[in-house]
Amino acid sequence: MTLLDSDMGGIVLNAKALEDGCTMIREMESKDCERVSELLEQLGYPTPLEQVVDRFNRLDQVNHRLFVAECEQGVVGWAHAAMRSSITSQARIEIVALVVDERHRRKGIGRELLRRIEDWSREAGLDVVRVTSNLARQESHALYLASGYALEKKSAVYSKRLPKTVQTYAE
Ligand SMILES: CC(C)(COP(=O)(O)OP(=O)(O)OC[C@H]1O[C@@H](n2cnc3c(N)ncnc32)[C@H](O)[C@@H]1OP(=O)(O)O)[C@@H](O)C(=O)NCCC(=O)NCCS
Repeated sequence: MTLLDSDMGGIVLNAKALEDGCTMIREMESKDCERVSELLEQLGYPTPLEQVVDRFNRLDQVNHRLFVAECEQGVVGWAHAAMRSSITSQARIEIVALVVDERHRRKGIGRELLRRIEDWSREAGLDVVRVTSNLARQESHALYLASGYALEKKSAVYSKRLPKTVQTYAE
């Protein structure tokens, strides 16, 4: 069962999530930063609250959308998606981060966060949603495959740490 609840400004979740006392997927707000910071730890990116607040405030709200899954207990899941354009491919939505609280997994919440991101893609007239996920994240691969995503390729990730010269945007 999935219903759009326009009165509450969010999407009512599937039956399994509803049984868990979950009420909706809605846009992330500043007041959610503390919970998002806690969930980032579960995602493997521990980030102090001040940095979450700062990064959230700096995000361009047109090309970035952040959603939270709200239950009776508060925010139990969170997702960040971004619209990416490049010369090499058509514009598309990319999932930047997705996490559901360990105590609330396998209740359909991850699937609903994905659904909200896909709705944004449709609203924007874009027909590709893409995600890159570490091979070690087995549950995420299960979620994407169960949600109709197909494995496109496996890649290696490279990065280079540059010497610090000035205070940067990325602080
Ligand atoms: C991946 C993650 C977001 C899934 O959230 P979730 O709310 O538990 O997922 P759902 O309950 O919506 O699962 C939907 C379907 O995905 C599959 N799935 C999800 N987790 C699974 C797991 N641990 N094992 C097997 N299948 C799984 C199942 O098919 C499931 O349907 P079912 O429960 O009816 O069998 C969550 O496990 C998580 O936060 N993991 C750590 C962070 C992470 O890896 N994030 C992704 C970064 S790219």
